[in-house]
Amino acid sequence: MANWNEIWKNEKYPMWIENGGLARYWDMIAAQRFQRLSGNKDAPEREVEEFNLRQTDTVLDIGCGTGRLTIPIAKRVKYVYGIDVSKEMLKIAKEQGEKEGLKNIKLINANFETFDVNRIGKADVSVSYNSLGVYDIKNTLIKINNVTKRDVFIFTFAGKGEWLDERLAEIIYGERQRNVPSSAEIIHNLLKEMGINPDFEVNHNIYKREYNNIDDAVKNIMEFYRFTEVFKKYVEKFVKKNSVRDGKRCIMYHHRDIAKIHWRVENGR
Ligand SMILES: C[S@@+](CC[C@H](N)C(=O)[O-])C[C@H]1O[C@@H](n2cnc3c(N)ncnc32)[C@H](O)[C@@H]1O
Repeated sequence: MANWNEIWKNEKYPMWIENGGLARYWDMIAAQRFQRLSGNKDAPEREVEEFNLRQTDTVLDIGCGTGRLTIPIAKRVKYVYGIDVSKEMLKIAKEQGEKEGLKNIKLINANFETFDVNRIGKADVSVSYNSLGVYDIKNTLIKINNVTKRDVFIFTFAGKGEWLDERLAEIIYGERQRNVPSSAEIIHNLLKEMGINPDFEVNHNIYKREYNNIDDAVKNIMEFYRFTEVFKKYVEKFVKKNSVRDGKRCIMYHHRDIAKIHWRVENGR
């Protein structure tokens, strides 16, 4: 039988800590990420709508980042705890909460894996959106289940490319990538081993990006993923094959599969 936790440790955790470590990477891209995502407020609203939150709920947002989901959640519930390992991401979340006049958010700078959940007590609902940069995913899932009274929602990568566009991952990693299970598959299998049978739904997300020209697209993708020069020729190949010209501009559609994994905690209300 496959040891899913070991596969995660060997194949998934490294991608979270490359680029100088977990907090460092997110500290570096915080402002850029916020700017890129802030144009689309509809997506988080739609996602939060599906959590079936109640006004009396306390929610735990694990790896809350810039507060993309924390803010719309706070508008619907009694209290939200947002935990994140990156101070720069939390700085933006704090500003956004203040801008909206929300007083029911507590932001905590910590790595969820080592965070003592007794500090906050149990949450009615726990949410984690593409934010499980942890070494021991099995213990983390147990920890999330134990800290939650009712519903857990985990969103994670379901494609072979993980957070890379699948076509780019194919060019870079090829055969090797095809044989590694996705984060979503590993989490799903571990939950089943824990006796949890979650709802599992995969959404194919397409993001439109506009660049000044092909060189600009290559530069942006290289910078965003913090690729070293070695990867430049692969990124160029990917951009040339998958971009379309609109006058002088270069348009690209990035594809990514994201799984929504939900379960009702046993004895949950
Ligand atoms: C892709 S961003 C997602 C942010 C937010 N959930 C959203 O939907 O916009 C991932 C976030 O998870 C945080 N993160 C990753 N692993 C973490 C961990 N073990 N403990 C706390 N935060 C973590 C990162 O610092 C980053 O802010």
